[in-house]
Amino acid sequence: MSVSLPPVLVVDDEKNMRLSLETMLGDEGYSVRSVESAEAGLEWLARSEFFMVITDARLGGMSGYELLGRIRHQWPDLPVLMITAYATPKLAVEAIQAGAIDYLAKPFAPEELLHAVARCADRYRLMQENARLRAHAAGTFQLDHIVGECAKMRELRQLIQNVAPTDARVLILGESGTGKELVAGALHNLSRRRDAAYVRINCAAIPETLLESELFGHEKGAFTGALKLKPGRVEEADGGTFFLDEIADMSRSLQAKLLRFLEDGTFTRVGGTQELRVNIRLIAATNRDILEAIAAGEFREDLFHRLNVVQFRLPPLRERGDDVILLARHFLQQFTGSMSKHVQGISRGAQQKLTLHHWPGNVRELRNVIERALILESAREIRPGSLPDFQAETGMPRAGLPRVAGDAPIDELIAGFERDLIRTTLEDNDFNLTKTAEQLQISRHSLRYRMQRLDLASATDPEADAALPAGKDVPEV
Ligand SMILES: Nc1ncnc2c1ncn2[C@@H]1O[C@H](COP(=O)(O)OP(=O)(O)OP(=O)(O)O)[C@@H](O)[C@H]1O
Ligand SMILES: [Mg+2]
Repeated sequence: MSVSLPPVLVVDDEKNMRLSLETMLGDEGYSVRSVESAEAGLEWLARSEFFMVITDARLGGMSGYELLGRIRHQWPDLPVLMITAYATPKLAVEAIQAGAIDYLAKPFAPEELLHAVARCADRYRLMQENARLRAHAAGTFQLDHIVGECAKMRELRQLIQNVAPTDARVLILGESGTGKELVAGALHNLSRRRDAAYVRINCAAIPETLLESELFGHEKGAFTGALKLKPGRVEEADGGTFFLDEIADMSRSLQAKLLRFLEDGTFTRVGGTQELRVNIRLIAATNRDILEAIAAGEFREDLFHRLNVVQFRLPPLRERGDDVILLARHFLQQFTGSMSKHVQGISRGAQQKLTLHHWPGNVRELRNVIERALILESAREIRPGSLPDFQAETGMPRAGLPRVAGDAPIDELIAGFERDLIRTTLEDNDFNLTKTAEQLQISRHSLRYRMQRLDLASATDPEADAALPAGKDVPEV
C-alpha cells in the first residue's frame, strides 16, 4: 500500500534560499512548507504533520541548534537536516551529536540534498507501514477476543468485519454484560480510523450538568469553575471514533444538541459562539430497552433514527447455548494465568450448573463466577460446590407463569416458559433425563427433542447420560 507523504518543513531566514529549496524539492514531487524562523517552524510542527525538517543553523531568533533540540525532545522520530554557510567539521559533529540526521555546507550539490530527503521519505513510509501492520494485528486480535461459536455470535463477528471499514453509525443494543464495549472496540480497531483516537464517554457516569461540557468543551468563564478553556472530547476524537456508552441515560436537552451535531458535525463549546467542526465516527450503546424509552418520552425518536444506521443486538448469555462453557473455559484460562492456580477444567456437574443458570448479568456475571470459583477451588477442576447457589443468590423465581414482557411475540414467551420449566425440573432431578421426563409426563425422547430446540441440549451430557444405567443419577464430580 502506498503511504501518502506529508510536506517537508523548511526553516531559513534567507528568502532566496527558501525559494531555491522550494523549487528543488517541488520539482521532485515533494510538497514544501517554508518559514523564516524557528518560532514559526515550531508553530507549524504543533499543528501539522511533516516527514522531515530542513533548517539553517543560523537564524534570526532561536538558532537552528535550539530548534533541533526542541524537535528531538518533542518529536523524537522527526528527522532534521541542518544546512549552514559556516561549515566547520566541529560544527558538523556537534549537529550530528545533537540529533541531526545530516549536515550540509552551503553551497551544496542538489543531489546531495535530494539524496538525504529521499532517505527520510523512505523511512517515513516504512514507519507508517509498520504502524499500520501493528494496528491491523491488534485489530484481528480484538475480534478473536469475542468468544462464542453459536450462530448469533458468528454472525455478529461477520457483521463487525463488514461494517467496521465503513463510516456507518452503529447502535449496539444488549443487556448489561453482553459485550457491547468489546464490540465497539473491535469496530474501531478494524476500521480505517484505527490509528486515530478512540474516545469513550459513559453518559450514565457523568453528572448531567457536566456532560455537555465534557462532550463539547467550554470556554473560559462559561460557568463557575470554568477557569480555563477546555476542548470537548469530540475534538479529541477528531479523525477517529467516538463511543457514546449508555446513550439512553442522556437528558432530552442534550439529546437535541447531539442531534444537531450529528446532522453536520458542527458544535459550539459551552459559553462559546464560534461554530466548530470535527470528523468523527459515532458508535452508541445502551443496555436499556430503547424503544420503551422512546415510548416513555425519554428518548428522542429522531435521534434514535440518526444513530440506528446499523444495529447490533447482542444476545443474552442464556440464549447462547454451549457458549456458556466455551466462555467459562476462556475465563478459566485467563485467570489461571494470573493466579498461579492449578485448576485445569470444569467438572461435568459444574458445567450443568453453569448451563442451567439464567445469567441475568450475562458474560460479566460468568466472568465473576469463574474468578470466584478459582479462588475457592482446591481441586484440579471447578466443582459445583465452588459455584454460587444461583437460586438462592439471585433470588431467581422458580418457573411460574411469565408476565407478558415488552414486545415479545407469544411463541417466544411460551418458549421461555418451557425452557424455565424444563430447566427447573432438570435441576430438581439432578439432571437425570429419565426422572425429569417422568415428572413432566413426556417420553425421554420428547424431552431431549425439546431441550435441543430450546438450546438446553448441553445441560446434560448425552453420552454420559446414555452410558448410565437407567434411573441412576448423573454423578456430581
Ligand atoms: N463474547 C465475549 N468473549 C469474551 N469476553 C467477553 C465477551 N462478551 C463480554 N465479555 C467480557 O465480559 C465483560 C463485560 O462486557 P462489556 O463490558 O463489553 O459489557 P457491556 O455490554 O458493555 O455491559 P454494560 O451494559 O453493563 O456496560 C468484559 O470483561 C468483557 O471483556
Ligand atoms: Mg458497557
